[in-house]
Amino acid sequence: MTPDEFRKHAHELFEWMAGYIENVEKLPVKSQVKPGEIFNQIPDKPPLQPESFDLLMKDFNEIIIPGITHWQNPNFFAYFPANTSPASVLAEMLTATLGAQCMIWETSPAAAELEEKMMIWLRDLIGLPNGFEGVIQDSASTATLTAILTAREKTTGFQGNTDGLNNSSCLKVYCSEQTHSSVEKGIKISGIGRKNLVKIPVLVDFSMDTEKLKDAISSDRKNGHTPCCVVATLGTTGTTAIDNLKAIGKICHENGVWLHVDAAMAGTALILPEFQWMLEGKEYIDSFVFNPHKWMFTNFDCTAYFVKDASSLIKTFEILPEYLKTRTRGIVNDYRDWGVPLGRRFRALKLWSVIRTYGVEGLRNTVRNHIAIAAELAAKISKEADFEILAPVIISVVCFRYIPKGFNEEQINSINETLNHQLNDSGKIYLSHTVLNGKYTLRMVTAQTNVTSEHVEKAWNIIKETARNLK
Ligand SMILES: Cc1ncc(COP(=O)(O)O)c(C=O)c1O
Repeated sequence: MTPDEFRKHAHELFEWMAGYIENVEKLPVKSQVKPGEIFNQIPDKPPLQPESFDLLMKDFNEIIIPGITHWQNPNFFAYFPANTSPASVLAEMLTATLGAQCMIWETSPAAAELEEKMMIWLRDLIGLPNGFEGVIQDSASTATLTAILTAREKTTGFQGNTDGLNNSSCLKVYCSEQTHSSVEKGIKISGIGRKNLVKIPVLVDFSMDTEKLKDAISSDRKNGHTPCCVVATLGTTGTTAIDNLKAIGKICHENGVWLHVDAAMAGTALILPEFQWMLEGKEYIDSFVFNPHKWMFTNFDCTAYFVKDASSLIKTFEILPEYLKTRTRGIVNDYRDWGVPLGRRFRALKLWSVIRTYGVEGLRNTVRNHIAIAAELAAKISKEADFEILAPVIISVVCFRYIPKGFNEEQINSINETLNHQLNDSGKIYLSHTVLNGKYTLRMVTAQTNVTSEHVEKAWNIIKETARNLK
């Protein structure tokens, strides 16, 4: 493709992108295709001769778009959002055009130094203590794995990296029953072993029962095991429950155990002064992760990972082959030493673009509005005798179910499952579910970048009508 051809296609693409942003709300929010439908439309063999970009765009519109679930549609209420924003998309285009691989400072000093500064901005915005240093990772799952590996190395005196885990007494990691599955995945692949992950029961608000945590750690110690790490969650995936950091932190401190905090979604709410209570006990935190790619309008992927003591992190991950030796080593941050991958995208640019174009107040207003919309929805649900709220509404997630009269618990579960499928198959709105105390629960997340009270009001009317018309 010549520069002139590129220019022509880029202009056409901008039109396509602006049109998509304008009209995404009119598309079915959840893709309605059947398994194999896309696969079978793609030729079995690649073209031998060059094809035009116009032909590619034709197939993109006709084959790919029907198979896309539109996460940027404001009627997307499922999972946690993967929000983007025009400022983020524009910066991502610059990142793709530069195509820089930012593994070490020398391979793009601007990427390393902007990342360092953005992590300071974010750290201060969310209220983590001054000494914390941050790095951008691809996902919260990777960041949590990174935390578990660093905790493992700290606990074993960095012997795990050299000798393997054979000689260390059995390491134990703790989290609540509501913790995200990324913790279990991290434990599996860290060599600690899934059977050494202790899942602590939760209280009625679905936060970790800290008395049970204390008991579990002391019982493990008595049995000769070595408590290594506790993962606390701010904003669990099911209900956005907030674990009690202060109580958990004290236990960690008394036992010399690493405290990792997973705030993948709720971390963004910390930019609001009125949500700083979630960080009470922050002095005990060793590592902390949150995802600007969830609720901070920065398109996937962009995870902010912070550590109190960067030297332990670096000691766990650093490796120095000849081809990576530089004259600036030790003077600058070479982020390849701060996590698993060597190669790194220039992700700080989109964060810079988002924070500058929204401004802190713009970010705060949008997030605050999402939280207010969730509270409004919860108030509406509470007024209906045939619906019930199933968990405290803390940020932007409402957990509820339909409870028509005359059915037992099993039937009510099946009615709510049918309701969920029927809503999602309509293409009008998209919700996901969880199970709380054996109850099939609908989860509605009011945190899509462009969601408004009107979208939620309309969705709530669709839910009520669909539920009451179920056969
Ligand atoms: C609380 C929590 N932690 C971790 C994750 C994993 O996030 P990622 O997709 O960035 O790995 C999620 C995903 O929704 C989550 O809800």
